[in-house]
Amino acid sequence: MSEIIENDKNNSNNGEPPEGRDLTAVNLYMDKIRTAAKELPDNQGVTAAKAFYMLEFSLRLEEIVDSDENPVPLILEELRLLDYKFGRVKALYSDDNYVRFMKRGGFKPEKMHIASEDFQNLVDTASYIHRAPVVSKASAKLENVNEISGELYSNLWPLRSDEEFFEWGTPFLKERLDLNGIDLEWFKGKKCLDAGCGGGRTTLAIRNLGVREVVGLDIGEGNIRDATERVTRAGLTNISFTHNSIFEMPFEDNSFDFVMCQGVLHHTPDTAAGLKEIFRVLKPGGHLWVYLYGHMLYYDLIEMIRDVVADVPLALAANYIFNMGWAFERYLYWQTTFFVPIRTYLESGELEDIFKDIGYSSWDRHLRDIQREHWITYCEAVYRKYPYADVKYGEGDLRYWVTK
Ligand SMILES: C[S@@+](CC[C@H](N)C(=O)[O-])C[C@H]1O[C@@H](n2cnc3c(N)ncnc32)[C@H](O)[C@@H]1O
Repeated sequence: MSEIIENDKNNSNNGEPPEGRDLTAVNLYMDKIRTAAKELPDNQGVTAAKAFYMLEFSLRLEEIVDSDENPVPLILEELRLLDYKFGRVKALYSDDNYVRFMKRGGFKPEKMHIASEDFQNLVDTASYIHRAPVVSKASAKLENVNEISGELYSNLWPLRSDEEFFEWGTPFLKERLDLNGIDLEWFKGKKCLDAGCGGGRTTLAIRNLGVREVVGLDIGEGNIRDATERVTRAGLTNISFTHNSIFEMPFEDNSFDFVMCQGVLHHTPDTAAGLKEIFRVLKPGGHLWVYLYGHMLYYDLIEMIRDVVADVPLALAANYIFNMGWAFERYLYWQTTFFVPIRTYLESGELEDIFKDIGYSSWDRHLRDIQREHWITYCEAVYRKYPYADVKYGEGDLRYWVTK
């Protein structure tokens, strides 16, 4: 607690004038970059440059939000740099440049040393996979969004190690619920559902709370097969997985005491319809724990990144990201952040109106969340009033304990 009070004292703008937090210029620059990216010619070199620069920007953004400094001037500096880089790419591929180039004798392979070796490698990779499918919000039609998300995630979850699958989730879930005053004893003997269970490690964590039974449901086929195989191999009982959509769940009305829905509905076309279907399968008095994206500067920047890479083939960006040699969770985070077809962001008030309209009887916002050595969830950073957390993360992510 004293840590929170200490941070609270330090958090009053860190001695800077309030305009140091003004986002007008950041918003204008984001629009400028979106437009600049749209106006670039459509060719392999430009595609490669877009993917590379956005990855570079993402990594710098990661550093900025991790630091305690005012993010506004730092982000502005990066956006200006990006604007400059796109200007250079535009000049490189302009018609004028092309005409000058052809006048001087056109394409000569020995002249290629003018491009840096790195950039040339990027262009080679881009041309190799130029015809690869684009799996992004640009191509996602509303009616196939769920399947596209399922496929994207389905290819990733099975890459998780057994150690991550079996050992990571249980202490995490217990700490998360405990921090928000949920009595873990309540779960004993309950019938539970993990709706949009992904790789299944939270499903396993729910099982380890001593429940009677837990089912993990997800639209991705590969992850459901993988999770089933892992728990079967380990000889675990009371846990099963099913391949279905959250919008049409194969369960009777009023069948579950508890539903977990973590990070799923903001990747679907209709959050409210998903919450309604969960309401249907919950028993009266049963509980839902739901996590959805809040609205914040950090996510506005993520959307700008996504707009720029919307026509970049998944295989190209995935290749860059994979070659960074990161730990799996970071690879998963950036690949899905770039390519999941939909991300929606809600204010807490908007979400609470949805709960009310559906008929849920009560909802408590969970303001606390996990902090690990090098990582903190946004709502916990906001709760602790870490420097500039409000600027970066607004009111934080939305986590609710909801009762039917
Ligand atoms: C960000 S992941 C979250 C996974 C898991 N809940 C967790 O916290 O690790 C989103 C998951 O939602 C699944 N999904 C997306 N649309 C779905 C739908 N309509 N029905 C069921 N699952 C869906 C995806 O396949 C993916 O596994």
